[in-house]
Amino acid sequence: MKKGFVFDLDGVITDTAKLHFIAWKDLAAMLDIEIDLTFNEQLKGVGRMDSLERILVYGGKEKDFSLAQKETLAEEKNKHYVELLQDLTPQDLLPGFKTFLDSAKKKQVPCAVASASKNAPFILKKLEIFDEFDAIVDPATLTKGKPDPEIFIRAAQAIHITPEEAVGFEDAQAGIEGIKACGMFAVGVETTEPLYQADLRVKRLDELSVDSLLQK
Ligand code: BG6
Ligand code: MG
Repeated sequence: MKKGFVFDLDGVITDTAKLHFIAWKDLAAMLDIEIDLTFNEQLKGVGRMDSLERILVYGGKEKDFSLAQKETLAEEKNKHYVELLQDLTPQDLLPGFKTFLDSAKKKQVPCAVASASKNAPFILKKLEIFDEFDAIVDPATLTKGKPDPEIFIRAAQAIHITPEEAVGFEDAQAGIEGIKACGMFAVGVETTEPLYQADLRVKRLDELSVDSLLQK
């Protein structure tokens, strides 16, 4: 029996991957590095500084910058990204998510957000669903990023259940690995690539019934 739900944000609740991509692509171009959408897949679920590192490695420039310079570059990317987020509205919720969330709330299933994004609270407010969640893990307090299970363990703790009692929802392979590593049931929300190891794979969350998930 499951007792609570733990959601990733980008790619599960809303599709901000394209906005991350615009901001990273512009920053990379400034550094004479060209990235495309295929490369962008590797940045899904990966934290801000790690994403920058991957871009620099991809462009063969990881040794060209000090840590302080890298921090400035990451800040610049974030400034641009936050500008792009200003236009977000509830229309940007992914199809099927709100129907599923409403059904979970009606059944009083505790719900948490486990996102690597430091912008998660802001995004959830723009989407007008911030108050629907019982907990949002602050990624600044974590020691390891996905695929480490730390963020999912913390999310389960925050809603007072064990990882084994939770269902985790993810669109990134690194996230599915983290969910499975702590014994949660994994729902893979697939957009482009198949998600290996997921216990269930769907295109949109309203394909699922809350009751049948709670029975898992
Ligand atoms: C994840 C995204 O949710 O958050 C990554 O999938 C992103 O692409 C990461 O890099 C960190 O986001 P932010 O908003 O803190 O830069
Ligand atoms: Mg995601």
